[in-house]
Amino acid sequence: MSRLRLGVNIDHVATIRNARGGSAPDPARAAEIAIAAGADGITAHLREDRRHISDADIEALAALCRRRGRPLNFEMAVTEEMQAIALRHRPHAACLVPERREEVTTEGGLDVVRGHNAIAPAVARLREAGIRVSLFIDADPAQIAASAEVGAEVIELHVGAYCDAVRERREAEVAVLLQKLADAAAQADALGLEVHAGHGIDYETVGAIAAIPQFMELNIGHFLIGEAIFTGLDAAIRRMLVLMAAARPQALWGVGG
Ligand code: PXP
Repeated sequence: MSRLRLGVNIDHVATIRNARGGSAPDPARAAEIAIAAGADGITAHLREDRRHISDADIEALAALCRRRGRPLNFEMAVTEEMQAIALRHRPHAACLVPERREEVTTEGGLDVVRGHNAIAPAVARLREAGIRVSLFIDADPAQIAASAEVGAEVIELHVGAYCDAVRERREAEVAVLLQKLADAAAQADALGLEVHAGHGIDYETVGAIAAIPQFMELNIGHFLIGEAIFTGLDAAIRRMLVLMAAARPQALWGVGG
């Protein structure tokens, strides 16, 4: 089993900054701390309404990640505007997400089956520019098959429903949802897709998710930024990395790929 990478999503540092306006706290400073703590990459979502991350943040994060040799994972809606921004900054990766203005956060996965005609050309355009394209989808066999068909190299499975079920102690659903994630990860891997996971992961849920062997990367934001208030960002990330490694003891000893 290979080592699992951690992408730290710093959107909510910008949420706190924007609550007051001004320039503090700075998401780029959080990204520096995340990299120093061992994060494998930085993730940021430039939303259409710019509610947290701004265009200037993306510029600063792209420069910082280039300087520090770490991948920037640019989360974006499948719009002309966002594609133009991605093509300008050429991040290591772009994760295509559904976006609705009124939602508090990304509520569900991208509908790749119905959105095929808009998503396929966007994937091709981004890939041509050397950007690795990931699709944020639900653990649904039809969505996984469609993701392979439109030419994505990576899928990120939305694990929010599983994480909510764990936190709300809906025991009967927990096992079902976890099995669904494991089946989806195996299906995607068999299709040659790299598999990531994200949304709602915390210290309690990370272990079972990290134990699914096909996952190569977890993207975690809100919980880490919240935890940083109490323990600091460096300590929060280091603890998450320890929990991830503990779920993959073989990888620590170099057994497997
Ligand atoms: N991955 C994707 C595609 C997301 O949209 C989000 C939320 O912005 C995350 C990961 C991180 O989720 P959370 O902030 O709940 O850890």
